[in-house]
Amino acid sequence: MKFFKPIKSFKDVNIAIEIFAELSASRMSKIMGFPLLELEITEKDGKLGLLMDHLPDKANENVVNIDKIKSALAFEEVILNIDLKEEHVLAKEKVAYIIDHGHSFNAWKPLYYIQEIIDKKVSRFNLWSNWEKFMEGVEIINSIDDKNVLEILRDTAEEIYQHNFCKLFDRKAVEETVDLSFRIFRYRKRILSSLF
Ligand SMILES: Nc1ncnc2c1ncn2[C@@H]1O[C@H](COP(=O)(O)OP(=O)(O)O)[C@@H](O)[C@H]1O
Ligand SMILES: [Mg+2]
Repeated sequence: MKFFKPIKSFKDVNIAIEIFAELSASRMSKIMGFPLLELEITEKDGKLGLLMDHLPDKANENVVNIDKIKSALAFEEVILNIDLKEEHVLAKEKVAYIIDHGHSFNAWKPLYYIQEIIDKKVSRFNLWSNWEKFMEGVEIINSIDDKNVLEILRDTAEEIYQHNFCKLFDRKAVEETVDLSFRIFRYRKRILSSLF
């Protein structure tokens, strides 16, 4: 079964940046092996949205991929996901996934706020993690070449620009979003072990 999450329709550039954050997080998780869902921009009943697998259950510590969930705390911190909470960890057949990355990177954040939180731990749920599992996540993130991350951020921003559902996401916004998101990622990667 599939779950469809419609794109919100306020007049705000963050509507597009939110979709950028969701898709970028999902694609980065894929090359790093963290448990996020694959997302696809799709139209349903005349509305654009994100299509993903439907997850019927609340996750708990007994899921089969609990070690990956624990190490994904490093991922959630490096992408500055300020919206990680227990309700955002769902499961299907005892395999857990972290959902909702629409408040990662620069999405919904004025610059002064990014400056305020850039050195801080931001997650509100610790994914049952511990220092050892967190550091396994840090190692995975460190093993990925930043060039691959930049490529994902660029390609994703371009794709959203081409979809043209938010006129405020213009060329300048595309460049700013990629630049800011990549800077957030690189900075937090450098200080990641202090964010447990
Ligand atoms: N893949 C999914 N499968 C099942 N339920 C989901 C899925 N994604 C989201 N939900 C449900 O919808 C709620 C809202 O989704 P979420 O991604 O958090 O949207 P929002 O960005 O509006 O907060 C979630 O808290 C969850 O209950
Ligand atoms: Mg949510």
